[in-house]
Amino acid sequence: MLDEKIAQYAQEIEQFTPQSQEDVEAFRLRFLVAKGVIRDLFDAFKSVSPEQKRSLGKSLNELKQAAELKYRTIQEQFAAIAAVHKRDIEDLTLPGEGFVMGSRHPLALVRKEIVEIFRKLGFVVAEGPEIEDDWHNFTALNFPPEHPARDMQDTFFIKKQEGNDIALRTHTSSVQVRMMENGQPPFRAIMPGRVYRNEAISARAHCFFHQVEGLYIDENVSFADLKQTLYYFVQELFGEDTKVRFRPSYFPFTEPSAEMDISCTICKGAGCTLCKKTGWVEILGCGMVDPNVLENCNIDSRKYSGFAFGMGIERITNLKYEIKDLRLFSENDVRFLSQFETELI
Ligand code: DAH
Repeated sequence: MLDEKIAQYAQEIEQFTPQSQEDVEAFRLRFLVAKGVIRDLFDAFKSVSPEQKRSLGKSLNELKQAAELKYRTIQEQFAAIAAVHKRDIEDLTLPGEGFVMGSRHPLALVRKEIVEIFRKLGFVVAEGPEIEDDWHNFTALNFPPEHPARDMQDTFFIKKQEGNDIALRTHTSSVQVRMMENGQPPFRAIMPGRVYRNEAISARAHCFFHQVEGLYIDENVSFADLKQTLYYFVQELFGEDTKVRFRPSYFPFTEPSAEMDISCTICKGAGCTLCKKTGWVEILGCGMVDPNVLENCNIDSRKYSGFAFGMGIERITNLKYEIKDLRLFSENDVRFLSQFETELI
């Protein structure tokens, strides 16, 4: 009797397929409430003979669990269907939600442009470590020990080490040294990277920024090659009507050394606040690699000569996009970043 009923309900539960939310509720009322059929079976169970109790008790419990599981499952299914319906009835005329596209960082855009121009002249890209030793950052580059020239660049020291301190590189010129130490001329390379200096952060100075170093070493390389290469670079980057001028300067690692100015990109030479009314802005340092540097890197300075140059990517970017505050580059404000063209490759 009781076992037949259990089997009958078990089948009913298994086959139950609700068509609506009301069916789901009807299922609950039929099987799971205090006055439901399963409760009735438990009541009837109290009066069966002790011999029958064992097997009937087991199937009765299974029936109860099956009912509960079924109810949970159909409830979840209906909740999912309801969620889909809710979406369906939203305003179908609304425009879709587009993807938010990122854009390249302005410094990355300019670095890429610089690299592409030099690539056309046969320069390859090389990189070096940001944590550098004194040898690669200073000594090999002809900075004499204890010479005030080292103070030109406020260094972040990491570790004092007898004769060869470890520091964050203050310029990408260290990569020149690594390149020359590890290979044989000719060298024709462009070396972009981040550099660090212990400076108070302001609109015009930052404790880290980016440089691109250039190096060209071969037989018979002259200052005329240096001028022509950099002139080509400026024309490609800023346009054909941009003028250049070289001023004598000093760097420990070049002799002779120069700084290169270009005619102001903003006022075209007429005089404005950017060029401090001079019509010219400095964009890089350069020179013929000092023979001492070549010898420090085991390169025969009687056979080989060459030029090097170094420029700040922030400075070039400021000129190209008229950005007046250096801090914008590292604040990651999307209102600033999203103004730059989006490039996918
Ligand atoms: N390293 C220099 C600086 O950070 C820039 C520089 C000047 C690099 C002259 C050179 C160079 O390679 O020849 O200020």
